[in-house]
Amino acid sequence: MNNTLSLLKQHHNGGTEFVELMKNSASDRFNPDFWQSWATWIAPVLSDVPKIADFGCGPGMLLQMLRQRYPHSHLIGVEYAPYMLEVLTPELYDVIAHDLHETQMPIVANSLDAITLIYCLHELNQPITALKTVYDTLKFGGRCFIMDWVRVPLPVYLTSQVTQDVFSADNKTLRDIFTHFIEHNRYLANDVSWLLEEIGFTILEQTQTKSEQFVHWIVEK
Ligand SMILES: C[S@@+](CC[C@H](N)C(=O)[O-])C[C@H]1O[C@@H](n2cnc3c(N)ncnc32)[C@H](O)[C@@H]1O
Repeated sequence: MNNTLSLLKQHHNGGTEFVELMKNSASDRFNPDFWQSWATWIAPVLSDVPKIADFGCGPGMLLQMLRQRYPHSHLIGVEYAPYMLEVLTPELYDVIAHDLHETQMPIVANSLDAITLIYCLHELNQPITALKTVYDTLKFGGRCFIMDWVRVPLPVYLTSQVTQDVFSADNKTLRDIFTHFIEHNRYLANDVSWLLEEIGFTILEQTQTKSEQFVHWIVEK
């Protein structure tokens, strides 16, 4: 969808630098706390040959880590941004170029043990289609690990984004901060929980991660 491509371009400031940012910051997202939650909530529902998809997989950093942990797994990366698709490694995992705003994901219904949806929801212009696709493609008892920005008061957001006094910042800095403020502050944590429950998931865990603007959810079908 052309709309999605222009939306992504706006979120990612063009693309190339964002690919590098996602690569360089991967160890911050997929840190020991992430793997502890994975061991507690996701590992127990994996089949002997785990079937795991990463929706909005970016440059594939989590998929690389999963390939090392689960050499015999079936891994799938779902992405739509051309600059992300370009750097993915189809030798290590299957790659599906799919817009998460669209239905008809080419993955068999009720087939996946686990899905990850990491910092992707806030980039979608509506989250319901993607969450319904997660629900449809997970097996019964399968789990999804969701991590994302949630809405916080403006002063909390600004303090996290600028070290200087925001009232002394130049116009370009202010424009960038307030553009991203809109996408990073879409949903209250409880809005996401409500959506998840309405779609049919059971929420097993909802936890603030690094600070109050980041939350993860573990949900089960
Ligand atoms: C902030 S990045 C996170 C990437 C990856 N999950 C990670 O943590 O390394 C969000 C990713 O979701 C992808 N994404 C956003 N909207 C999408 C859509 N409509 N369909 C498919 N992927 C999408 C973006 O292209 C981007 O790669």
